[in-house]
Amino acid sequence: MNSLILALVLCGATVALASEHCSYEDADIVMNEWQHVLDGGNSAPILIRTANVIFSAMFEKDPSSRDLFNRVNVADMHSGEFHAHTLRVMTA
Ligand code: HEM
Repeated sequence: MNSLILALVLCGATVALASEHCSYEDADIVMNEWQHVLDGGNSAPILIRTANVIFSAMFEKDPSSRDLFNRVNVADMHSGEFHAHTLRVMTA
C-alpha cells in the first residue's frame, strides 16, 4: 500500500473516531509521519501492527471476509504467514 493510500486510510480512521472531517493539512501531516516511519529502516513491525488493526476492523464489520484469508493463516494473525501477507499488502 503506498503511503498516500495508507495516509487516506488512517485519515479516514481518524475521521471516524473524531467525527470531524480530515483536512488536507491533516492528510499532509499523516503522510509525512508515515514517510518518516517508512524511511526509518525498521518499519515492518509498525506496518504489521497497523495492518492487523485494519484487518481486525474489517473482520469485525464483516466476519465472512475472514475466510478469504484462510490461505495466509488468518486463524493466527500473529503467524509468519499472516504477517508476510500483511507486509505484501502494506508495501504494494
Ligand atoms: C488498498 C487496499 C488493498 C491493497 C493495497 C491490497 C493488496 C494486496 C496484495 C499486495 C496482495 C498479495 C498479492 C500476492 O500475494 O501476490 C493481496 C492479496 C489479497 N487480497 Fe488484497 N489488497 C487490498 C484490499 C483488499 C480487500 C478490501 C480485500 C477483501 C475484502 C482483499 C483481499 C485479498 C485476498 C483474498 C488476497 C489473497 C490472499 C492469499 O494470498 O490467499 N484485499 N492484496
